[in-house]
Amino acid sequence: MGEPAERLEGRHVAADGSAAAARLRLVIVGHVDHGKSTLIGRLLYDTGSLPDGKYEQLVAVAARRGVPFEFANVTDALQAERDQNVTIDTTQIGFRTARRPCVLIDAPGHKEFLKNMVTGAAGADAAIVVVDAHDGVREQSRRHALLLKLLGIGQVAVAVNKMDLAGFDAGLFDRVAAEYTAFLATLGLTPVAVVPVSARDGDNVAGPSGRMPWYGGPTIADVIDGFTVPGPAAGGPLRLAVQAIYRFDRRRIVAGRLESGTLRVGDRLLFLPSGKQSRVRSIEEWSAPVRHAATAGETVGLTLTDELFLGRGEVACTLEDTPSRTARFSARLFWLGRRPFVAGQRYTFKLATQEFTGEAVTLSAAVDASTLEPVAGMETPQLAAGEIGEVTIRTHRPVVVDPYGRVPALGRFVVQDGLEVCGGGIVLESDEPAAAMAPVAAHLTRSHGLVSREAREARLGHRGAVVWFTGLSGAGKSTLARALERELFARGRQVCVLDGDNVRLGLNADLGFSDEDRAENIRRVAEVARLFAEQGTIVITAFISPFRSDRLRARAILQRDGLDLPFVEVYLSTPLEVCATRDPKQLYARARAGEIPAFTGVSAPFEPPDQAELVLDTSRRSPEEATLELAGYLEPRIEIR
Ligand code: ADX
Repeated sequence: MGEPAERLEGRHVAADGSAAAARLRLVIVGHVDHGKSTLIGRLLYDTGSLPDGKYEQLVAVAARRGVPFEFANVTDALQAERDQNVTIDTTQIGFRTARRPCVLIDAPGHKEFLKNMVTGAAGADAAIVVVDAHDGVREQSRRHALLLKLLGIGQVAVAVNKMDLAGFDAGLFDRVAAEYTAFLATLGLTPVAVVPVSARDGDNVAGPSGRMPWYGGPTIADVIDGFTVPGPAAGGPLRLAVQAIYRFDRRRIVAGRLESGTLRVGDRLLFLPSGKQSRVRSIEEWSAPVRHAATAGETVGLTLTDELFLGRGEVACTLEDTPSRTARFSARLFWLGRRPFVAGQRYTFKLATQEFTGEAVTLSAAVDASTLEPVAGMETPQLAAGEIGEVTIRTHRPVVVDPYGRVPALGRFVVQDGLEVCGGGIVLESDEPAAAMAPVAAHLTRSHGLVSREAREARLGHRGAVVWFTGLSGAGKSTLARALERELFARGRQVCVLDGDNVRLGLNADLGFSDEDRAENIRRVAEVARLFAEQGTIVITAFISPFRSDRLRARAILQRDGLDLPFVEVYLSTPLEVCATRDPKQLYARARAGEIPAFTGVSAPFEPPDQAELVLDTSRRSPEEATLELAGYLEPRIEIR
């Protein structure tokens, strides 16, 4: 069997599966001429990371040309030697500090930086922003920080450079540091350190400076050592992006990249968007012995216990923690194309191994291009190059996505205009909540009561609220809902529980467990919860509510027409195995025996929330503890304002 071309996809071009784990990916940005390249050159030299003889060679070249040697030219020299075949516009240079290996991503400009960040060619873990002590905080110093923020890079340090030219003036340093730190604070960023440096001379780069005795903080190398490298995604939810199917002997091998999680022989897999299921019979790595497990970052070949017809673009996951299968998601879009990005126009999207078409049905500018101020919800028909927007994308067929913050590899995409990559983005939420169902009947007029909400609240002594439990069957939803109800009742609160089985025995007796029926189940429950909450009742709901979009809709129903009552989503994250062992209604046993079709976690999916107000694992907490925690969370939120 030949090596599949797909092996060469993505950023794991070389055999870096394991080495990537501990390596810090660092980007250094800054306003033009503030000394970014000099800092990089100096860092490489002072940490002994330049190839043998490189420094001497560059000094000799400079001397021959009769120009002074500049550290700023080091990266250009390294770049020139690199394989011209690389398609990304950054230099990626390996270097070592005392503590660990790093990769420096040197992006020539913010567009290249953006492009590489969103395409995943060079996702950074941490950033250093270089600011010239004399020139001070400039437009790009601000713009770069904003990009770091929007891209979710929270680990930032500042190098105040050219302190030699500033006479090592502590007062000047303090002013620049204070101004920039204040700006970062407006973005919600807190730098881990602000370091006065002379990149040219090496002060406070890899070693402390003798020329700034007033500074007692870390050097740049210390700062880099202090950054944390996100752990391998091995502990995350299982996501395998199918690249191709190969036939080998008589076996059918599913080749794919494990983007997140750990895969084991015997695992039951759900393939989305097709919905096909099977078990892992064997895991085979190209030209390596058969193995029992694989972890995030590896490219593997699988054989399954069933003959499934699958294609490139399918994503395998487990049933109890699935990505969204959706035709609609919201995203933050970074546009770089020569032609503007236009709402309503069709584009090609690439997300993991999926390729699909779609268009923006809503588009708003995320930041004002002139002031760089965030502007929430400013509708715009298009984005020009360099602009950032928030979009709702409608796709022409179901696609499989995760919010970027949950599984980066399935929450990051590029956009092509024709054949050219012109932008990229990150998925914020899958599925826009459909706030309400348009009534079928016409000629309806809402009537309003004569008893105000305030009057009801005054009588009850608290506001209404909804506590929405979600989780697998057996996770403890009903148990905790009942315990919380009793606790709040004892405290004199008006409270009630809407419970899955009970509601399905009455109001929703016409509904089964298809995706559509579950959606309707949740919609009705949310409407009922709203009716009660409006009257001041604290409504506790206990429904599996397995789909993110249904829960988002429930939230939207409760917030419709400006109703401002607390909606507290509580995810009971009790592991599937614990739920199945508890099996209070003996349903898992029956579902596993094939007697109950579409049983959540066994043969139907569950999409865990990524932004629940509370997450509780009931296998780690007693019901009493959990109840008190919930009541404590709720109390301040139901106080009358
Ligand atoms: S939901 O998915 O629509 O939110 P809901 O919470 O109302 O589900 O109902 C779940 C309850 O129905 C379970 O606690 C279980 O007792 C019962 N049930 C029967 N069949 C199924 C099934 N196929 N999947 C999940 N629950 C089922």
